[in-house]
Amino acid sequence: MKILLTGTAGFIGHNLAKVLLERGDTVIGIDNFNDYYEVSLKEDRNKELEKYPKFKLYRIDISNLKDLKKIFEENDIDRVCHLAAQAGVRYSIDNPYVYADSNMVGFVNIINLTKDKGIKHFVYASSSSVYGDTGEIPFTETQDVNNPISLYAASKRSNELIAYTYHHLFGLRTIGLRFFTVYGPWGRPDMAIFKFADKMSKGEEIPVFNYGKDMKRDFTYVDDIVDGVVRAIDCEYENEIFNLGKGSPDELGEMIEILERYMGIKAKKKLLPMQKGDVLITYSNTNKAKEMLGYDPKTTLENGIERFVEWYKGYYKL
Ligand SMILES: NC(=O)c1ccc[n+]([C@@H]2O[C@H](COP(=O)([O-])OP(=O)(O)OC[C@H]3O[C@@H](n4cnc5c(N)ncnc54)[C@H](O)[C@@H]3O)[C@@H](O)[C@H]2O)c1
Repeated sequence: MKILLTGTAGFIGHNLAKVLLERGDTVIGIDNFNDYYEVSLKEDRNKELEKYPKFKLYRIDISNLKDLKKIFEENDIDRVCHLAAQAGVRYSIDNPYVYADSNMVGFVNIINLTKDKGIKHFVYASSSSVYGDTGEIPFTETQDVNNPISLYAASKRSNELIAYTYHHLFGLRTIGLRFFTVYGPWGRPDMAIFKFADKMSKGEEIPVFNYGKDMKRDFTYVDDIVDGVVRAIDCEYENEIFNLGKGSPDELGEMIEILERYMGIKAKKKLLPMQKGDVLITYSNTNKAKEMLGYDPKTTLENGIERFVEWYKGYYKL
């Protein structure tokens, strides 16, 4: 297939593009290489993809409609997978406009051009953050998600609503994927496992929110997520939203212990209060994705962290 994939220089997009290229798909990538985190990491991910003859990259901003239109005109596209977005819950509290540009305007640009070009299949990244802090666990797709507690979560929920509208009005097949705390090789430096590894290797303190008490995350290994996204790209459903998580949350403290073991470094913890916009627990019910997509996350936190640390030490030559 010829797949338009946005966010190919990003963590999940890069890992997904490799799998699609390996199986023989053509990937038309889009990324603006913004400096939300180290640009060199995005460039290095991209270098890996440039090795594949069936990969083509456009360095553009998805909020720029004129540039985007050209890409849709120049290429034959079978399916669209839209992952590019401004990520991060905490960052969204102080930086609202970048979420408006990338996650709102950018999203409408991509979905509308997909419809205009007559492409039938649109997969997009949503987030576990849409569940907010309702306290109902595990998080299930049928649950009420009308109270997002950060602008990031609100932008992702609005994407889901817009996708529904495009399905209803134009018959576009839309598949939304609510990812749960993804980690692994080529990961995101702003996320806990990567950030902690970085700080530990520099001898710096790691920030532990809510004083390290009762914080749980449904940490999900990137290969499992990528498997779920590929299944969503290949499926024939009309309009669905799926949780893609591991389906079993782990304590923050346990994650730190495993990381300490594989890094071979004892962490210096800085205990801090709960952050605005943050939730105590994320916990996915993955039954729907299992039944309808055949999604089957297999990687334990222990195995996943081991593989992440192996990559991390190799990449940073530690
Ligand atoms: N990693 C997670 O745990 C997680 C959890 C829930 C949802 N998500 C969602 O999954 C998607 C991928 O996340 P990721 O972890 O790979 O993040 P990432 O930041 O590593 O990747 C996103 C990529 O999109 C690009 N991008 C951002 N704004 C853009 C714009 N305006 N124009 C063009 N490119 C732009 C960035 O440069 C980046 O390379 C995002 O939509 C994110 O919100 C991720």
